[in-house]
Amino acid sequence: MDQFERIMEAVGFIKKNCSVLPRVGVVLGSGLGEFADQVLDKTVLAYADIPHFQKVSVAGHVGRLVLGRIGKVAVAVLQGRYHYYEGHDIQDVVFPVRVLGQLGVKSLLLTNAAGGIGRELRPGDLMVIRDHINLMGINPLRGANDERLGPRFPDMSHVYDPEFQKLIAGAQKKIGLAAKKGVYLALSGPSYETPAEIRMLATLGADAVGMSTVPEAVCARHMGLRVAGISCVTNLAAGISSQPLSHQEVTETAERVKNDFIRLLSLVIPRLA
Ligand code: HPA
Repeated sequence: MDQFERIMEAVGFIKKNCSVLPRVGVVLGSGLGEFADQVLDKTVLAYADIPHFQKVSVAGHVGRLVLGRIGKVAVAVLQGRYHYYEGHDIQDVVFPVRVLGQLGVKSLLLTNAAGGIGRELRPGDLMVIRDHINLMGINPLRGANDERLGPRFPDMSHVYDPEFQKLIAGAQKKIGLAAKKGVYLALSGPSYETPAEIRMLATLGADAVGMSTVPEAVCARHMGLRVAGISCVTNLAAGISSQPLSHQEVTETAERVKNDFIRLLSLVIPRLA
């Protein structure tokens, strides 16, 4: 069975179990999974039950696909993601996004927890991703290209839809949040960066650093989806403060900004359709 057939088998399973045809897809990052509670008329499918979905292992990630509505818009929310650092094949990391694309999702909102590098970023900030830098050492499109999914050499000039960026910034202002924007840089992890690495990443033009999102964004653009991205700055990057980094700090900050995050997504998602 090739990858396309695996994707379509997962799509078939989802369609059999849920009549909603989602238009907007959402990926919830570390500690940000609670947004899924906002979905109305829910159908919840455990990743463990969907053909070809891998097991989820990271604390703060549940592993469920939640289908339903936010406002009037049909959504598919991936509550929990696969990370490359877990040891998954990169094809398995992007598999859920491939499935959403083949399910008929037209727009994808990617969220993550990230370390803040940019001077103006503070823990608790929600940063609109305006572009990314891929330093993961991999590309999910490596290997034979399947034209049924997208072209061999997809353009990456505007990965994060400019209209979506404006829309999110407007929503941030409306609910009294600072409208921060920046470049997200992805490394493979799972160790956090050294202070020397963070100084290097700053000179490369990174505002925030994390271990996800980029493979999903690349595949979504490959499939022609419109993409939006929001980083929750959970900590200052290594060396910017003297504090050591920990996953606990990441999940604690995500918990602290949860209400802002939920309000922002509730406002934004219906307008991504
Ligand atoms: N570095 C990498 N990934 C992260 C960080 C960080 O500081 N915070 C949350 N995810």
